[in-house]
Amino acid sequence: MAWKTLDDMELAGKRVLVRVDINVPVEDGRVTDTTRIDRIVPTVKDIQAKGGLPVLLAHFDRPKGRVVPEMSLKQIVPALESALGQDVIFLNGNYGEGVAGMQDGDVALLENLRFNPGEEANDAGFAKRLASLGDVYVNDAFSAAHRAHASTEALAHLLPACAGRLMAEELSALDRALGSPERPVVAVVGGAKVSTKLDLLSNLVEKVDVLVIGGGMANTFLAASGIDVGKSLCEHDLAQTARDIAQKAADKGCEILLPRDVVVAREFKAGAASETVKTEDCPADAMILDAGPDSVAHIMQVLERAKTLVWNGPLGAFEIEPFDAATNAAAKAAAQLTRAGKLVSVAGGGDTVAALNKAGVAGDFTYVSTAGGAFLEWMEGKTLPGVAALEK
Ligand code: 3PG
Ligand code: MG
Repeated sequence: MAWKTLDDMELAGKRVLVRVDINVPVEDGRVTDTTRIDRIVPTVKDIQAKGGLPVLLAHFDRPKGRVVPEMSLKQIVPALESALGQDVIFLNGNYGEGVAGMQDGDVALLENLRFNPGEEANDAGFAKRLASLGDVYVNDAFSAAHRAHASTEALAHLLPACAGRLMAEELSALDRALGSPERPVVAVVGGAKVSTKLDLLSNLVEKVDVLVIGGGMANTFLAASGIDVGKSLCEHDLAQTARDIAQKAADKGCEILLPRDVVVAREFKAGAASETVKTEDCPADAMILDAGPDSVAHIMQVLERAKTLVWNGPLGAFEIEPFDAATNAAAKAAAQLTRAGKLVSVAGGGDTVAALNKAGVAGDFTYVSTAGGAFLEWMEGKTLPGVAALEK
């Protein structure tokens, strides 16, 4: 790999600035999903094992350069302490003094970096002040690597820098999925809108052997091919774009799989009366809310032939039953093939992880990324500034 890891660094007695992403969901002051916190623990422990003093740098939410008390990282401290099994020194001022006072075994966390406008501006002066607090820089925040901010980008150039364990793990999983994958490679892409995933689809048709399109965005492709999708969510103005993507796929030898049958309903609510029809038979007054069983069987056949799967986005309106059926069934099939050692399966993106968790199979995938937006930008083939800054 083109970047250093903790194994390459001399850390004994050093203050180690670790950029982490602990931008976790919080409700009523309590962390509702600790995944991102849990996943940085190995990095913190390894730094300590090498004699370093971890100083965690992070953001929370989007305070836009102002101090917003409700967005303080202080509320994350209890969850962080329980994941690490030790007290965390929370610093919200006098950083130099606080960090200088750290003893062997201590871990510190600085207040939300985004309270300072210099963070999102990737400001050189702000990065310099951060750099003055430590001897070494570790980036363990793959999920924030699509942001060129002071703590993810500028800072990496100011100190000896390396990737943390989670960052290294994410990068190697993603490389296995799209960088140098075993073929055939299947991508499953769902979600509501084609408009948010244009670059992603366009990049994927060049890289994968089969592209399964589901969710609302499949309707746009169906409509573009002349099928009446009734009242379904559909971006009719993107018909030509969808046809262009389909043409590009054909040119590149990528097969696009659209639903053959669909589950339709007249209302979008839990338990709404629904029926399964052939895709071309969607009633004019109904909307498509999920892929049907024939479509799922077709996806399963494709997965059985595949060696690698990369998944982003649900196949239907998975948050509302019974329209989670196709997503659940396909996710379970992928999980089973993965457990049997037949498939490398990598998934990412906010909704996707929620869908896999709901299907109860996230733990069976080869790798589930902690990233939302960064995973999408990586699937789009974009360079992530936080990763690029680590490359030497
Ligand atoms: C995320 O939650 O995806 C990352 O923490 C980045 O957050 P942002 O979208 O506010 O930059
Ligand atoms: Mg976000």
